[in-house]
Order: sequence, then structure tokens, then C-alpha cells
Amino acid sequence: MSEAPEDLGAFLDDAWQLIGRGTVDSKSAANRPALATVGAEGPAVRTVVLRAADREAGTLDIHSHRLAGKVAELRAEPRAALHVWDAKRSLQMRLAGAATVHVEDAAARAAFDALPEHGRTIYAVSPEPAAEIDAPSAPAFDADPWAGFALIRLRLERIELLHLGRERHSRAVYERSSGWRGRWLVP
Ligand SMILES: Cc1cc2nc3c(=O)[nH]c(=O)nc-3n(C[C@H](O)[C@H](O)[C@H](O)COP(=O)(O)O)c2cc1C
Repeated sequence: MSEAPEDLGAFLDDAWQLIGRGTVDSKSAANRPALATVGAEGPAVRTVVLRAADREAGTLDIHSHRLAGKVAELRAEPRAALHVWDAKRSLQMRLAGAATVHVEDAAARAAFDALPEHGRTIYAVSPEPAAEIDAPSAPAFDADPWAGFALIRLRLERIELLHLGRERHSRAVYERSSGWRGRWLVP
């Protein structure tokens, strides 16, 4: 999308297309969004991989280690946001909602089972994430990966899009509470 969007529905369709591509194409801008959480000491942000998206349900999936800081933060305060900047399309997406952490349930199992063997290794890290170690190579990957795996499912409440066009900038917001009906905003 390099043309300025004219239609709220088409603008949202384009965004979901990009999100969908992000789940399958590691080169897509939406593949590595920044995840923002509310930590005890204030905002926290980090890169994650977008693993799955369900437009019908309005959910986005991320995988993590169950002992990661973000998981503890989301358990304490589920409100979270993802940020994507697609330079090729001149499009910023701000995706906000509430996250549920799935551990040892059917949703986590389905996500874990869909991972290739090598994709599971990271969840076998030992000792746990953020533990202090003597050298960067010190951790082993000999724990049970399933015991470390967590699925983070973000249920979107709000999608905000900003397109930077040559002629004009276009900004729109879509909310679950209004059935994802969009509104144009001043950029
Ligand atoms: C390109 C890239 C992709 C990443 N993907 C993930 C991911 O999908 N899940 C994850 O937990 N951490 C991922 N990380 C690591 C996080 O950015 C972060 O450093 C780590 O998870 C610890 O964050 P936390 O202490 O806030 O939980 C990724 C980092 C980079 C640079």
C-alpha cells in the first residue's frame, strides 16, 4: 500500500493482509513487531515474532518462555500493544488489547505441536530466562521445552493505522466495541 487509502474497510483489509503475511514471512515487517507491556517499573517493550493471527476472533499469537519477564507482566496486567512499522508500505500499525497467557492447556499444546523440533529448543533453556550467568554461552538447552513454553494470545480491542503518503497522511482507528467500524482521525 503506497497510495493513500480512500476507504476505511479497504485500509483495514490491507492491514490484516499484512498481519497475515507477518505470520508466514520472516521478511515481512509484521513478522517482528514490538510488544509493549506495563511492568512494575513502567512501560516495557521488546521485539517478538508474530506467530499466528485470526481476524475473525481478532487475536494475535506470540510464543515465549513461561518464565520470561513479559509473561509475568502480562499475568499481572494483561493490557498490551504491538507496534509495526512497514517502511515499504509507509504504514504504522498500533495494535492494542488484552493478553491471555496459555500454559499447559489445549491452545498452548496446539501451538507447541505445530512448531518444528528446532523451533522448540529455545524453550528448553536452562537456567531460566534472565537468570544471571557467568558467560554468554553458559546456558544449556537441556530442559523439557514443553515445560518452558507459553502461548501469549492478544485479543485486540483497538487497531490504529497511519499511512504516510506523498499527498497526505491518513490515520484511522477501528475498535472491537463498535464492530471494527473505522473512523478517520487527524494524523
Ligand atoms: C528479532 C527478535 C525476535 C524475538 N522474538 C521473540 C519472541 O517471539 N518471543 C520472546 O519471548 N522473545 C523474543 N525475542 C527476545 C525478546 O525481544 C526479549 O529480549 C526477551 O524475550 C526477554 O524479554 P522479557 O524479559 O521482557 O520477557 C526476540 C528478539 C529479537 C531481536
